[in-house]
Order: sequence, then C-alpha cells, then structure tokens
Amino acid sequence: MTSADVYNNQVVKQFAVMTVVWGIVGMLVGVFIAAQMAWPALNFDIPWLTFGRLRPLHTNAVIFAFGGSALFATSYHVVQRTCGVRLISDKLAAFTFWGWQLIIVSAAITLPLGITTSKEYAELEWPIDLLITVVWVVYAIVFFGTIAIRKIPHIYVANWFFGGFILTVAVLHVVNSAALPVSLWKSYSVFSGVQDAMVQWWYGHNAVGFFLTAGFLGIMYYFIPKQAERPVYSYRLSVVHFWALAFTYIWAGPHHLHYTALPDWAQSLGMVFSLILLAPSWGGMINGIMTLSGAWEKLRTDPILKFLIVSVSFYGMSTFEGPMMSIKTVNALSHYTDWTIGHVHSGALGWVGFISIGAMYYLIPRLFNRELYSLKLVETHFWIATVGIVLYITAMWISGIMQGLMWRAVNPDGTLTYSFVESVQAMHPYYVVRFVGGLLYLSGMLIMAYNIARTIAGHAPVRSVAAHPA
Ligand code: HEM
Ligand code: HEM
Repeated sequence: MTSADVYNNQVVKQFAVMTVVWGIVGMLVGVFIAAQMAWPALNFDIPWLTFGRLRPLHTNAVIFAFGGSALFATSYHVVQRTCGVRLISDKLAAFTFWGWQLIIVSAAITLPLGITTSKEYAELEWPIDLLITVVWVVYAIVFFGTIAIRKIPHIYVANWFFGGFILTVAVLHVVNSAALPVSLWKSYSVFSGVQDAMVQWWYGHNAVGFFLTAGFLGIMYYFIPKQAERPVYSYRLSVVHFWALAFTYIWAGPHHLHYTALPDWAQSLGMVFSLILLAPSWGGMINGIMTLSGAWEKLRTDPILKFLIVSVSFYGMSTFEGPMMSIKTVNALSHYTDWTIGHVHSGALGWVGFISIGAMYYLIPRLFNRELYSLKLVETHFWIATVGIVLYITAMWISGIMQGLMWRAVNPDGTLTYSFVESVQAMHPYYVVRFVGGLLYLSGMLIMAYNIARTIAGHAPVRSVAAHPA
C-alpha cells in the first residue's frame, strides 16, 4: 500500500504546485510596482497598470494566493500524517482547492479594474467575500472533521496552530467584511469613522498574527523537526507558545492607529500588548531554532534546512522590530515611511516566504514520489534570495528613517526644512536598490519553478520518501 492509498495527496499536490505559481505571479507584480516607485513613467498612463490598483493586487496575490496555497497544502498534509487518517472528505477538499483558485482569479480581475472596498488586505468586494466565507467554512469542516476522526489521540501542536489560524481568520473576515451592498460591485462598510478604523486594524493586525504567523508556525513545528530529523526542542514550550500568542495578538491592533482619533487609552493598550508579544514570539523562535541542537552540522550541507532555519531567524527579527515600532515615540518616526515596508518584507520575504519555500522543497518530491532534481539549485536559490532580502530591507530601513527625519526637520523659524518633493527625490536610489533586491528574490523563485518542474517530470522513484509517518 502506498501513501496515496491512505492519504489524500492529490489536493496537497495541487495546492503545493499553485504555491510556486502564485508566488511567481505575486512577486512579479511586486517587482513591477517596485520599479514604478523608482520610475513612475512605468504607469504608462493606463488605469489598470497604476500603482494604486496593482499594489493591492500584489498584497492579495502574495498573502492569500501564495501564502494561502502554502497553508492549505501544509495543513492538509500535516493533519493527515499526524492524525493517521485520510482527510474526512475528498470532495470537500477538492471544493476548497477550486473555490480558492476562483477567488484568486476574481481578485486578479477586479482589483486592476479598480473594484475595491478600499480596506487594506480586505479589498475584495462583497460577492467575492461571500465566496471566501463559503470556502473557508468548508476548509474548517475538512480540517476539524479530520481531527475529529483521528486515530492518534494526541493532537500534535502544529494542528493547534493551523486550527487557531482557521478559526480566527473566519471570525476576522466575517466581522470586518460586514457591508451593505449598493450594487453588484459596490458596498459600504457597516462600520463608520473611528470604529471602522478600529475594526479594520483589529482585522489587519490579526491577519498578520494568524494568517501570516500562526499558520506558518504550524509549518515550522512540523517541517523543521522532519527535515532536521530531531524532535521539537521543547514540546511544553510549543504549547505555551500557542496559547500566549493567541491571547496576546488579538489586542495589539491599535498600534496601527497611533496618533489618530482612536482614544488614547486604546492606543496605549495596543502598544503594551505589542511589547508583551515579544516574549511568546521569541519563545517560539528559540524553540524552532533549538530544534536543531545536536544537528547543527546539517545546516552546512542541507539547503532546505537553511531556508527553514533562516526563516525562523527572520521571524525573530521582525517580531523584535514590530514591538519596537509599536512604541508611540518610535512610531511617530516610522509611521507612513518605508521603515514599515522594510519591516513588512523582513516578515514576508524572510519568514513567510522562506518557510513556505523550505516546506515546498520538502513536500513536492515526496508527494510526487521523485528525487529532488537538484540540491545545488536549491542552494543557489537560497543565496540569491537571501541577498535579495538583505538589499530590500536595508534599502527600506535607510530610506524610511531618512524620510521620517526629513519630514520632521524644521528650521529655527519653524518652517519645514525640506519640501515633500525633496524627500521623494532622496528616496530614488533606495527604490532602485529595492527593485534589484526584489528582482533577485523573484529570480530565486524562477529557479525553484525550474527545479520543481524537472523534479516532477523526472523518473527516478524514491525508495523511502513516499511513506513518511508523522
Ligand atoms: C519579489 C518580492 C517582492 C517585492 C519586490 C515586493 C514589493 C513591494 C512593494 C514595492 C510594495 C509597495 C510598497 C509601498 O507602498 O511603498 C509592497 C507592499 C507589500 N508587500 Fe511586497 N514585495 C515582494 C514580496 C512580498 C511577499 C512575498 C509578501 C507577503 C508574503 C509581500 C507583502 C507585502 C505587503 C503586506 C505589502 C503592503 C505593506 C504595507 O502596506 O505596509 N510582499 N511590496
Ligand atoms: C511581535 C510581532 C509584531 C509586532 C508587535 C508588529 C508591529 C507592527 C507595527 C507597530 C507596525 C507599524 C504600524 C504602523 O505604523 O502603521 C507593523 C506593520 C506591519 N507588520 Fe508587523 N509586527 C509584528 C510582526 C510582524 C510579522 C511577523 C509580520 C509578517 C509576517 C508583520 C507584518 C506587518 C505588516 C504587513 C505591516 C503593515 C501593515 C500596514 O500598514 O499595511 N509584522 N507591525
């Protein structure tokens, strides 16, 4: 009996391949808008190609299409292996795959047309929101249904993270997307004024906390022990990590609304919870990295493990930077600047991107029962992408801090030292460096696509990798 008879590998394969495809599409749009910021003429005066329309296309494509596909693939894979059962329903699982692809295609059509709710990370209009709700409920049924019929009594910690992510995203999406439709493609939020802003950033921050963090921590807790062939450093810490993270994240949203009409106490609450968040985040990071203890030498030879471990280091870096940026006086400088963009991409490219890439390099050969075509290309991918991230985030740190300082500089007579245009001019070299960094990261993804395509097309069946119990 092969693993395909026991488990539903089909849906995992489909989501895994689409992770690579959507990764390339989303990052290509990222590179294009990065180029537009350096050379604005690239708008070509065509409305569909303007920065304002392509930016949400980029964020939706990388977060929900690339990140989402990686989360579907890994959660379906992990829940089956750690529960010792097949997914509760193949049909419902297939529905989530096709439904999710339909949502992505709808986003790719409506966003360039300028159809948007204008709520960040929740831009899609109400008919697509309804479809998201249906697909997500079915996803929850498949995931929790599989847990309900499990043969292994213990629920492995990765499933807690995946489960927390699925439940929280459902609540966030339903509340924040509540809207009154006025036509097929236009609706207005049921919230208004500062309440709308608060709900939006409760959603926005927890989209980071649960979509971009908790789900990917589920990946960390399964794939690092697997690739390193070591048990989780401290299982007890992983459980504390889960509950502490879930409890703390949900309060931190107001740090996105410092110095706004939001009551001051709410801003301070957001800041304090963001500072507390450093502890569970670093506990988790240490747990992930220390899983390698006793096997450090593997880092020298195994590029897949490099992706996984370096990703956790970026997780540590961005969860240190985030709490610092949530301090009001720091935020007074960083808010509205490229510093935020640097922070976002150390989390996005370093943490979310690298852990997904590492997990796909682990999964795809096993799912297709093939030997990975080239480990050397994985190594090349790793270094190109790492240099790309370093260029991207250092350029944004420098330009961000420079922007913040230029905007607040005043002459002795109280007038502004720099006009806004002068600050835009000063950014130009850093936008070019960011573009080069993004191009490198994208090139790495193209190398990955080639390597994966050759792997799938290859012949050599692998002796032992297909059957890999939890
Ligand atoms: C080749 C790789 C990438 C490039 C070149 C790139 C480029 C960009 C650019 C130019 C922006 C707009 C910045 C601005 O408005 O000033 C942006 C925004 C953003 N990108 Fe990327 N990106 C890449 C990959 C990713 C990935 C993989 C993710 C997530 C997993 C991501 C998530 C985001 C988010 C969340 C924003 C909005 C940030 C904010 O509003 O503060 N990006 N990206
Ligand atoms: C302890 C953890 C973290 C804290 C306390 C934190 C805090 C912050 C703060 C204070 C901002 C700037 C808000 C503003 O001035 O508008 C921010 C922005 C952001 N962070 Fe984090 N961060 C954390 C981790 C992460 C991670 C791991 C990621 C990505 C995977 C991430 C993604 C983002 C995004 C996408 C934004 C931009 C939101 C927007 O304005 O569009 N953060 N974060």
